Amino acid sequence: MFDALAPQPDDPLLALIGLYRADARPGKVDLGVGVYRDETGATPIFRAVKEAERRLVETQPTKAYVGPEGDPVFLERLWDLTAGEAGRGRAVAGLQTPGGSGALRIGGDLLVRLGVKRIWLGMPTWPNHASIFQAAGLEIATYPFFDIPSQSVLFERMVEALSGAAPGDAVLLHASCHNPTGANLSAEQWRAVTDLIAARGLMPLVDIAYQGYGRGLDEDAAGLRMLLAAVPEMLVAVSCSKSFGLYRERTGAIYAACGNADAVPALRSNLAALARVNYSMPPDHGSAIVSTILGDEALKADWMAEIEAMRLRITAIRERLAAGLSRRWQVATAIREQEGMFSLLPLEAADVLKLRAEQAIYMPTSGRINIAGLKTAEVDAVIEKFLSL
Ligand code: LMR
Repeated sequence: MFDALAPQPDDPLLALIGLYRADARPGKVDLGVGVYRDETGATPIFRAVKEAERRLVETQPTKAYVGPEGDPVFLERLWDLTAGEAGRGRAVAGLQTPGGSGALRIGGDLLVRLGVKRIWLGMPTWPNHASIFQAAGLEIATYPFFDIPSQSVLFERMVEALSGAAPGDAVLLHASCHNPTGANLSAEQWRAVTDLIAARGLMPLVDIAYQGYGRGLDEDAAGLRMLLAAVPEMLVAVSCSKSFGLYRERTGAIYAACGNADAVPALRSNLAALARVNYSMPPDHGSAIVSTILGDEALKADWMAEIEAMRLRITAIRERLAAGLSRRWQVATAIREQEGMFSLLPLEAADVLKLRAEQAIYMPTSGRINIAGLKTAEVDAVIEKFLSL
């Protein structure tokens, strides 16, 4: 039977990791998968994470099962970090998940249980979004989000498309640091989308995976919080991979906020049941780290200082890249205003492959670059390589 399986194409982002590793050329540049890198090219473990791990090693009393819903203290602290004032006192059911992808999948499964048929995704989006929701059984509808040649948000077209969504349809929004474009909605645009979602009775699912890397921890959640304050029901998928540098620990959560506290127990039990038939219980180590950090003022302050330094490093690289690339592409000035790790350059797949073959610059054929993959010392040389195309 196994012979009947057709081989699956590699995930284009994950395949880049192997291709980059196998390249022996000195000076190779990795602008592929979305992980933060420092000035030495390393993906460091946060100081606060190391300290929390040390404490856990010394004090954790057991490795017994945590239960399908995960640790309620972790869920409460992460919700507070994500939702802030807008989340306090709000009726919410949370589930600790294996990473942000696990949160999205459980969110998709819950939508199907609720009878939702369709989810609207902005174009372009993280390629795995469509795969995850399709696998959950949702139909994918799309709305225009970003125009690559002009590097601008297609807001009018987005609103026009979402005005055609049926009541009860789900809509995926990126909270900030949009993957793959770095382009985000302004406060007025969030307000307009919030009004539209509320008026049409749509179910928002907000994906927040890069909190702290855009304009700041609170700023990066501002749109999400505005929406939360205005709609009766909403899903929020949180990833701790980037914000706490816990990529391989698979740490995240899905939250369902509802207008009615009586609905919370059933929501909670449905989320737990979805976990149980999927992976039974979430991994604990990463969430124990996050909970330890968020529950200790000094550790939290140190984590905040470190992520702020990372954010400023990315912002400085953005400035240089925008100035350099706009010598040839006027629209590249937009890179400065974009946020987070990514920008989406107006490149053809052939250009990307040429850069890979001739210059050892690695990025997906979509033209997305991970700005956090650049060292200050190499930015100017990389700009010249882009300009030599
Ligand atoms: C990315 O977009 O590079 C990250 O979210 C990593 C992934 O899983 O694709």
